[in-house]
Amino acid sequence: MRFTASSNILRLVLSACLALTIALALPFALPGAAQAGHGSKAPAKRGILVVAFGTSVPEAVRAIDALKSQAEAAFPGIPVRLAYSSKIIRDKIAKEGVVKSSPAQALADMAAEGFTEVAVQSLQAIPGREYSDIKATAEAFQTMPKGIRNISVGRPLLYSFEDITKAAEAVLKSLPKHKKGEAVLLMGHGTSHPANAAYAALQLALWKRDKSVFIATVEDTPGLDDVLPELKRQGIRKVFLVPLMSVAGDHARNDMAGKENDSWASKLTAAGIKSEAVLVGLGSRPAVAGLWIDHLRDAVKELDH
Ligand code: CO
Repeated sequence: MRFTASSNILRLVLSACLALTIALALPFALPGAAQAGHGSKAPAKRGILVVAFGTSVPEAVRAIDALKSQAEAAFPGIPVRLAYSSKIIRDKIAKEGVVKSSPAQALADMAAEGFTEVAVQSLQAIPGREYSDIKATAEAFQTMPKGIRNISVGRPLLYSFEDITKAAEAVLKSLPKHKKGEAVLLMGHGTSHPANAAYAALQLALWKRDKSVFIATVEDTPGLDDVLPELKRQGIRKVFLVPLMSVAGDHARNDMAGKENDSWASKLTAAGIKSEAVLVGLGSRPAVAGLWIDHLRDAVKELDH
């Protein structure tokens, strides 16, 4: 009796040990069961991509880098990458040995590094061609195999009515003090894209707050010729020229402030109006830079849903 009882206990202990051994060994025996196998979701890895048009002007390069640093400071722990959207600029600086990624290259690199969620923020002023290209690139990466499963794109500076109102207030905060008989003329880029209307919307928002701040664009409407008659009508004797672009690059230095006959500075002189160029881009004006960072914050939040 005693023998049978103890052998029963022995059998019980042995089978318990066997069961435990199998339970412990099973995950290692079945291929891929213990670690993430093929087809399983990779763990989330979040990143930020800041996209600038790009520039070859050293001061403007520093201004873009400063905006990237602000994004890093605003989102500690999230790696921030930078891309230049302009191929012309990328090719030009490549000849000087400076290599910058396109948005597609930067996203491809991030996908290869295992990023699964990326908030893209463009430093564009209006939702024009550059912005729609960035959006299309982001969407392509979201749908392609081995792409990035979750990508959000932050709004440019002048997107919604609310954005335009905030931008007007932020721009006015940072402008040079102008007395009676003086005006500020902001130089926007301008485009044949329908988003060009954003400049007129911003002009209206600025005039609500200050009648002596004007906008004209280099490439489209309103142009300098649209603004000149109004400057004369108001008896303006001096104009501060300020770029309405993220950085004071080539357009600001040449088309706006340059010595050539067709620069805005020269045309104003020819019209009997003095001018003073302020070579500081919007991105170097803290109130305006803060709006781009706010838009990036919205894009990062969007990754949560
Ligand atoms: Co241009």
